[in-house]
Amino acid sequence: MRATGRLWILPLVPALVLALTGAGDPATVACYTTDGALIVPPDYREWVFLSAGLDMSYADAPPMAGHSTFDNVFVDRTAWQRFRETGHWPDGAVFVLELRHASTQGSINRRGAYQTEELMALEFHVHDEARFKGGWAFFESAGASPARLLPVSEACYSCHLEHGAVDTTFTQFYPVARAIAVKAGTLRAP
Ligand code: HEC
Repeated sequence: MRATGRLWILPLVPALVLALTGAGDPATVACYTTDGALIVPPDYREWVFLSAGLDMSYADAPPMAGHSTFDNVFVDRTAWQRFRETGHWPDGAVFVLELRHASTQGSINRRGAYQTEELMALEFHVHDEARFKGGWAFFESAGASPARLLPVSEACYSCHLEHGAVDTTFTQFYPVARAIAVKAGTLRAP
């Protein structure tokens, strides 16, 4: 009798764990300075890796000789779990685009390119309906320093809005996510 008397507490345990870790609350992923800059999430490298692009460009101009750049795209884990269920990027989602130099010469490499340690820049795409007009905002940072909020007049907003296939993101270029969106019917036709 004494043991069953305490069983009422069991349903509360998951809620208590979530409250203590902050997991499940999308708002905890993005943190801001008092002047509205986005603090670079210290663990973004442990988030879900969506894809890497090499020298992607939207201009017809040829790439600068000798300058190659990789971009790596990550999304926070809570957003990824919801995306897998719905095919939409939920409120609270934070994306990171990490830019790194592509090097061809180092160690045993004779052909092809690899990424170097030096960070060129970090860009962010954040979904927060309560905070941003239009629901989404872009930020950029040179590295560890807080990322500056970019005004809606920047080309980031118009290009992503016009060409991003799922909720203003470029999910069409993230292979596993793209397949999920196709199945969920949320991938916008080009
Ligand atoms: C002309 C189109 C265009 C413009 C302008 C543009 N982007 Fe993007 N962006 C892309 C494409 C294409 C990708 C996919 C990259 C990949 O596949 O690796 C992308 C991906 C991203 C991502 C990854 C998450 C997502 O939404 O798919 C972030 C973050 C991002 N861009 C930030 C920015 C910021 C910040 C700016 C403005 C300074 C900007 N972008 C301007 C085309 C654009």
